[in-house]
Parts: sequence; C-alpha cells; structure tokens
Amino acid sequence: MSDQDNPEEPQDQSQGLIRRFLDTPPDNVGKTVTVALGLCLVASMVVSAAAVSLRPLQERNAALDKQVNIVEVAGLYEPGMDVATAFESFEPHVLELATGEFTDQFDAYEFDDRAAASDVTLSAPLDDDPAGIGRQADYVTVYVLRDDAGALDKVILPVYGYGLWSTLYGFIALEEDGNTIYGLQFYEHAETPGLGAEVDNPRWKALWRGKKLRDDEGDLEINVGKSVTAAGPEYHVDALSGATLTSRGVDNLVRFWMSEQGFEPFLERVREGEI
Ligand SMILES: Cc1cc2nc3c(=O)[nH]c(=O)nc-3n(C[C@H](O)[C@H](O)[C@H](O)COP(=O)(O)O)c2cc1C
Repeated sequence: MSDQDNPEEPQDQSQGLIRRFLDTPPDNVGKTVTVALGLCLVASMVVSAAAVSLRPLQERNAALDKQVNIVEVAGLYEPGMDVATAFESFEPHVLELATGEFTDQFDAYEFDDRAAASDVTLSAPLDDDPAGIGRQADYVTVYVLRDDAGALDKVILPVYGYGLWSTLYGFIALEEDGNTIYGLQFYEHAETPGLGAEVDNPRWKALWRGKKLRDDEGDLEINVGKSVTAAGPEYHVDALSGATLTSRGVDNLVRFWMSEQGFEPFLERVREGEI
C-alpha cells in the first residue's frame, strides 16, 4: 500500500519515534547527547536572532553616543537636552589629511572613519607610528562649529591611539585660532577603572582647557607628563598618577594627531582664517 492510500502512516512513524525516545531511560548516553545538542542548537538560534535584531539599535546608540561626545567636548552639552537637535549646529566635513582640504568625494554624514582606517584603498601603513594605530586613513570626518554670524567658533577633530590595554577613541575641540585646546574627551577605551580610565575624570579633562598646541615659533609643544617641560605650563598637562602608561599613550596620540602626520595641514588653514 502507498503513502497516498494511507496518509497517516508517516505521522504514526514519527510519533512512534518520539514515544520511543521519551521511553528511553534518562541515563542513556544517546538520549543525553541528543538533548544536549538540541539545547545548544536552540540556545545558539536565540542568541543569533537577538544579536541580529539588536544590531540596528546598537548602531543607533553608538551614533548617538558619538554625537553626545561631540556636543560635550564643544561645551554645549546639558543633561536632558535633545542631543540630535544640538548636533545639527555642527557641520561635518570629510577632510583629506595630507592637504588639509575638505572633499566632496564622500557623504560626511555617512563616512565611516573606522572602516576607512582598515580599508587598504583608503589608508596606508605607518612607518612612524607613535600613536600605535598601525594604519592611518587618508580621510577623516571633522566637525566645524560656527557662531551666529557664521564665523568659526571651534573645530572638533577625532583622535585615537593606544594606551596601556586598549585603543582610546576621542575628540579634541580647538578654538577658532586652531591652537588653543577647548577640550579633550574619550568616548571609548578599555583602560583600568581608577587608573588609566581616569582619563574620563572631569577634573583631569578640565586641565586641558586653554592649553596651547604650538609656541610662537610654530613648534609643537603640547605634552602630557610628570613635570612641566621647558616650553612652560601652558603647553603641559599633568600625567594621571598611577597611570603613567595610559598618560604616555595620550601624550603620543595627541602629539601625533596635531603633527604634520595628522591635522597640521588643516590647522594651518584654520590659523590663516581659511575655514
Ligand atoms: C591590574 C593593573 C591594572 C593597571 N592598569 C593601568 C592602566 O590602565 N593604565 C596605566 O597607566 N597603568 C596601569 N597599571 C599600572 C602600570 O602597570 C604602572 O605601574 C603604572 O602605569 C605606573 O604609573 P606611576 O608611575 O604613575 O605609578 C595597572 C596595574 C595593574 C596591576
């Protein structure tokens, strides 16, 4: 007799299999392995589904967190404010680092700095690499803030580099002279709480305000260290106590990004009043 003649037969067979499986003693090795594999399969499906469905939310939160940091480093943040609206005051531009010129080649709202830094067509390996970043992108997104009359107020520049345990990602805000620091703030790192993570301490961050990058001769003098250099206190930020290695990382990354290898071609244009 065919299946068509007796359509209930396959169902009977599977019910028989399930009944036999359930009747198997619990200490049977085959049953234990089957149950364990089944549980693993279900758990991995739940975790994968959660990871996939939460990704857009995570990306939105990461973008919002970056906006909070940009607004905050520029001194415009107030708790409870509508950050997305405040962020609209900033002009994002994709900057070609080597020339210091803005480019229209990419959409500044979509450009992904991190992806560019690992894209072989948009980045190059560094021979001289004090910030410990390996490769550097040719283009980065910078943010320009203007006053009501349209004059330059601040530029917000992305900076990153290796500390002790992790790469620290942040922003430095410079005043309209392109030489005076308004703020430095990191939005991502994995330094030790209470030691290297004190880079987030508002008291330490406040030490950066008003410090100068270059002296009157144009030499890059900003430094983080245990003692004031010959250049003077206006170029010096005290290292974090108990976190000399993270502090050295911050010193290296700030000096790297403010140098000719980083934003100096752009900062020269800022100082000339071209932005
Ligand atoms: C568990 C542990 C975590 C540490 N985390 C950091 C850190 O995040 N940043 C840092 O600079 N030093 C950290 N240190 C301390 C460094 O090993 C080193 O002692 C310190 O940077 C020296 O700073 P000081 O000269 O100011 O004492 C850590 C040490 C230990 C044992």
